[in-house]
Amino acid sequence: MINTPKQYTVTAALPYVNGSKHIGHLAGAYLPADVYVRLKRLQGKDVVFICGSDEHGTPITIQAIKENCTPQQVIDKYHNLVKESFASLGISFDIYHRTSAPIHHETAQEFFTDFYNKGLFDEKVTRQYYDEEAGLFLADRYIKGTCPNCGHDSAYGDQCEKCGKSLDPTDLINPVSTVSGNKPVLKETKHWYLPLQKYEPWLRKWLLEDHAKDWKANVYGQSKSWIDGGLQPRAMTRDGEWGIKVPLPDAEGKVLYVWFDAPIGYISATKQWALDNNKAWEPYWKEADTKLIHFVGKDNIVFHCIIFPIMLHCHGDYILPDNVPANEFLNLEGDKMSTSRKWSVEMHQYLEDFPDKPDALRYCLLSNLPENKDSEFTWKDFQTKNNSELVAILGNFINRVLVLTHKFYAGKVPDKKPCDELQQFLIEQKNKIDEAIDNYRFREGLAEMMNVARHGNKLLTEKEPWKTFKTDPESAAVVLYDCIQIIANLSVMCEPFIPFSAVKIQHMLGVQTPFNWADVGRADLIPGNHQLGSPTLLFEKIEDEIIDIEIQKLYANKLEIVASEAVVVPSVAPQKAEITFDDFEKMDIRVGTILTAEKVEKADKLLKLSVDLGFETRAIVSGIAAHFKPEDIIGQQVSVLANLAPRKIRGVESKGMILLAEDETGKLHFVKTKEITGNGSIIR
Ligand code: MF3
Ligand code: ZN
Repeated sequence: MINTPKQYTVTAALPYVNGSKHIGHLAGAYLPADVYVRLKRLQGKDVVFICGSDEHGTPITIQAIKENCTPQQVIDKYHNLVKESFASLGISFDIYHRTSAPIHHETAQEFFTDFYNKGLFDEKVTRQYYDEEAGLFLADRYIKGTCPNCGHDSAYGDQCEKCGKSLDPTDLINPVSTVSGNKPVLKETKHWYLPLQKYEPWLRKWLLEDHAKDWKANVYGQSKSWIDGGLQPRAMTRDGEWGIKVPLPDAEGKVLYVWFDAPIGYISATKQWALDNNKAWEPYWKEADTKLIHFVGKDNIVFHCIIFPIMLHCHGDYILPDNVPANEFLNLEGDKMSTSRKWSVEMHQYLEDFPDKPDALRYCLLSNLPENKDSEFTWKDFQTKNNSELVAILGNFINRVLVLTHKFYAGKVPDKKPCDELQQFLIEQKNKIDEAIDNYRFREGLAEMMNVARHGNKLLTEKEPWKTFKTDPESAAVVLYDCIQIIANLSVMCEPFIPFSAVKIQHMLGVQTPFNWADVGRADLIPGNHQLGSPTLLFEKIEDEIIDIEIQKLYANKLEIVASEAVVVPSVAPQKAEITFDDFEKMDIRVGTILTAEKVEKADKLLKLSVDLGFETRAIVSGIAAHFKPEDIIGQQVSVLANLAPRKIRGVESKGMILLAEDETGKLHFVKTKEITGNGSIIR
């Protein structure tokens, strides 16, 4: 770990711009990175904060197929949207670059050529799955099939999500391309492999020994298990048109592997930033006293802790990351966040709905960061954090002090002596925040900032200047002087977390030159007789109605997507044997409503339901307990196979069966009509 860095190079994962980005991405990498960088800037450090769009790779190609347009159109559309959303949320990149820029293509090709000339690659011909209809070789994630290990029928080409086994696409039984729904064919192709295993001894020393103490447990643990699992040669090239051309004469139709080019994007973006600002880029990447930090989400750990460091090591001229403080995932209202499944809050959507509240989101996400384990965003919690913390603690404190000072002293700060005890407290808090952020504990840093506001509120409540102003004017003046010093300190302490509010607070204080970190910890920041600015609204209560609308939107999206997926997504399971119309006619499928639902004793999987079928209400035992809570399904309409022969299950006679759709993750969904339909209606 570098202790006194001369420069800081801080990167945040370059997002794929195959779509907009959601608040989980924000919490994973961009927000913590921004807090870190803002604090370093306040401290007067030399820091460059790098990000940009990752515009190559399969996700973009697939999105282009889905949207029936070119990859270029996809990236142009989303690059600006994502860039603007980040800016509106105060993510203060020094440059937001793109990997389609010529300077990036050149830089990535230079790396490849360097490795090639040093003889670091192994050239290999292998057989890979090819989708003839889409005309592309399929990345492992885009092939699904039956797992040879557990028989799960929608295992991915690289892993079965049910049994966890890692797979090679050729292991899958009945492979299907998820791009076209067709069976892919095996085709020979040549690629350039980097033998990662050769660098294992070096990696063990650099990562597992030297960073055993200063890297987060989740990051260290994941890296260790990759290394212990045995590193494999990895192809650094791919077949395709979309990407950076492999700079070799015999490499027609080959592009660089996106994970080869994308991290180099940090370097090329730094080059561009340096050009734009008349600076040299090399110190930020090549000097030993530069601290390089990669902020990423947990799905990016292996690339930033293993593959990219190996690349930097291979090149030889570059420094290695000092830390990769990756976060875990942020879930949403009890389920995994996903843009494609529309179970997400997209950054631009939030901004449309709450255009003047970037700090409310920043605050809520920061107080909930998935720093060590997955965490959760709920709209109710967002409301509570805003109303009970930002409004009731921070906003209320500042407002009370400023209003009283205007009322009693016409906005002129009483001329008093700084309080030693207060100074002590402020220094302690400053050190705590410093310590927390330097060690990537952003939640803790935020909490310590709020403790300063709490302290201020307590002081105010104890001293009651609104009363003592008449009985003991000296006491009132002293406490207001002290409180104004607390606000001045808060206006700097809060800047990394809620920068928009920081500006507002300094404005209200009538501060001309913004404070910096060196000012924090002083109990005399605002001199006596200083004229305050006028108080404005800092935070605003968010009402239940607003929150209810957001929750409803989320569920409406979910219903829509479930309905559309049922039609469009090609089913992976092969079709069953043919039946006649008469066979079908034998089934009596009805609409019913679940009236009651309860767990069946000693059976984890079963729920006992009573279902109103219009002509009668009956008991049905269904194996859905792992998927639905009884209280959530009461009142739902479902489809029931009504004339299934009755069976005794765990002592309960079950008459009929609830119809369910199983999605690719193994999750169950009720099969239901879109509109409420009379119970007993026949489905045919
Ligand atoms: N595009 C990748 C993702 O969204 C992240 C790339 S990070 C970089 O998961 F290092 F490669 F740039
Ligand atoms: Zn399996």
